[in-house]
Amino acid sequence: MRVAIALTIAGCSDKGRPMTTLAPKSDLAQWIQNLYIDVTLWDALVFIIVVTAFVLALFVFSTRVGEAAPATTASSDLGLEIAWTLGPVLILLMITIPTIRTIFRSQPAVAPTGALEIKVVAHQWWWEFDYPDGAKASNELHIPVNRPIRLSLESADVIHSFWVPQLGGKRDVVPGQINELTFIANVVGMYPGQCAEFCGLSHANMRFRTFVDSPDDFAKWDRDQLAGPVATPASDQLASDGAKVFADSPCTTCHMIQGISKGYIGPDLTHFGSRTTLAAGVLKNTPENVAKWIEDPQEIKPGANMPPLLLPGPKLDALVAYLESLK
Ligand code: CUA
Repeated sequence: MRVAIALTIAGCSDKGRPMTTLAPKSDLAQWIQNLYIDVTLWDALVFIIVVTAFVLALFVFSTRVGEAAPATTASSDLGLEIAWTLGPVLILLMITIPTIRTIFRSQPAVAPTGALEIKVVAHQWWWEFDYPDGAKASNELHIPVNRPIRLSLESADVIHSFWVPQLGGKRDVVPGQINELTFIANVVGMYPGQCAEFCGLSHANMRFRTFVDSPDDFAKWDRDQLAGPVATPASDQLASDGAKVFADSPCTTCHMIQGISKGYIGPDLTHFGSRTTLAAGVLKNTPENVAKWIEDPQEIKPGANMPPLLLPGPKLDALVAYLESLK
């Protein structure tokens, strides 16, 4: 039965359903899935008992027209009383004990040995990821496969909730408090995430991606992030012009590009060109989308703090070329 249910669930594969909670790719997600199967099996048992009793009452033990009502035996049978009290108690225990065990197992008080500890800061409406070695990322979290990960979740403003369905359950991100999420991702791949607590106008646009990398890929990504921005080649005239447009623009107030600007209100753009998405996972990172975003952020993400940048076409093209060159 257990195997049958596991197979059925495996049939709900993640292909084409990236937000499925039924295709676990981490130890934490697997524990939750096991618990889910257990509880479902006990629920099924209760359902079968209740429906069977109901059908028997309807068709077997009911009185026909003209028949005398059967004698009642209310509370006279002590054995029966004990049985139907103890039965439900046992079933509840079989559900409660694994649930509590999973809750504690999923929230270890200290980070496991060798864990990579990453600070996650939720903002209206984007995600900041700070690595212990100084690497920074926005809206795209990179983690190594098969290594314990310890996320400490903080909020810069209101309550958010960190959720990558295939990697485990939601965890609230609460201002003035640090919540933790500990897991080991065990399958390389890209897993989309989404803020799961209503946090204002663009709550639905507060998405992100988690890349579970092989150890080598992760080490390379980490090195690239730490290396600072790739210098814009002088031969790339458009991007070089764009660097000047950026330096003279109000963008510098909110955005950091290492060695160029020191803003910290919005995402760090030092490696913007290496990301696959922009605007917190809402758009694919293509020059057309970057231009659209810079021209009118509110159109894409209502309520976003970023004001529209009114740039004449050639300057906009140059700025976009520069941002895309920041690998
Ligand atoms: Cu952040 Cu919803």
